[in-house]
Amino acid sequence: MSQIVYLNGKFLPIEQAFIPVLDRGFIFGDGVYEVIPVYSRHPFRLAEHLKRLQGSLNSIRLDNPYSNAEWTKLIRELVTRNESEDQSIYMHITRGVAPRDHAFPKNTPPTVFMMSNPLVTSTQAQCEAGIKAISAADNRWDRCDIKAIALLPNVLMRQLAIDAGAVETVMFRDGILTEGAASNIFAVERGCILAPPKDNHLLPGITYDLIVELAEAHDITVEIGSFTETRIRAADELWLTSSTKEIMPIIELDGKMVGNGKSGPIFRIMYTLYQDYKQRVMRQAQS
Ligand code: PDD
Repeated sequence: MSQIVYLNGKFLPIEQAFIPVLDRGFIFGDGVYEVIPVYSRHPFRLAEHLKRLQGSLNSIRLDNPYSNAEWTKLIRELVTRNESEDQSIYMHITRGVAPRDHAFPKNTPPTVFMMSNPLVTSTQAQCEAGIKAISAADNRWDRCDIKAIALLPNVLMRQLAIDAGAVETVMFRDGILTEGAASNIFAVERGCILAPPKDNHLLPGITYDLIVELAEAHDITVEIGSFTETRIRAADELWLTSSTKEIMPIIELDGKMVGNGKSGPIFRIMYTLYQDYKQRVMRQAQS
């Protein structure tokens, strides 16, 4: 079965999906996107992802081409037409095709593209082994809350990590923790979870919300605030979260051990809560 994608009203094999070179996504990076995990063919936290998509569209002043009911139907069909039980749905909306001019074009339909890729999550053993990260000064714009397709700064940040033999780059803006190149970052200090606020300096992660929700429901304190680089470097635990990586411990930052250099006790609790939640929600969706 070939990979089936959705482009402007049609489902078709990826090899047959093309966009004109004047698409404003290609020319200006003028668009927004979403990534939704799908477990056992059920989109995870779909309402939350569609709400964030609406927020991104509002921020760039682009009308939502579909209602939530229409999106849900299209996403379900895309999931059905692709092979894997667990998928990662990528949604991408641009301001359409028009002669190159920075100003918004008039009467131009948006380009709507969606694809599905197999979602391969890490095993428990891989998660517990943890990952290495490096740090860098956050040099992005101050609308990081928009899930914009223009990801050059994030691409460069992620590559810094790869070049250093690490997996993620943890960013600090003026010495304060923001997020990873493609993830949110949490720390743990004496059993308390520390998280930066969901302001304009980071993407409001759907996984971030779930982690906070699960922690609070299980009486683990979460402190939302501005955390200095010094405090983060001295934390007992560091984790990254994202829809595709779920929750992963960072065991080394800039070549130095985080805590004792192993995944920590709060990580293990949150990992279990996250996996349990996933199973529970997916079981409910199937019944
Ligand atoms: N990225 N921050 C940034 C900059 C991100 O790109 C992502 C996710 C997150 C985590 O958000 P969520 O929990 O909703 O996935 C935070 C996706 C997975 C991507 O671009 O592929």
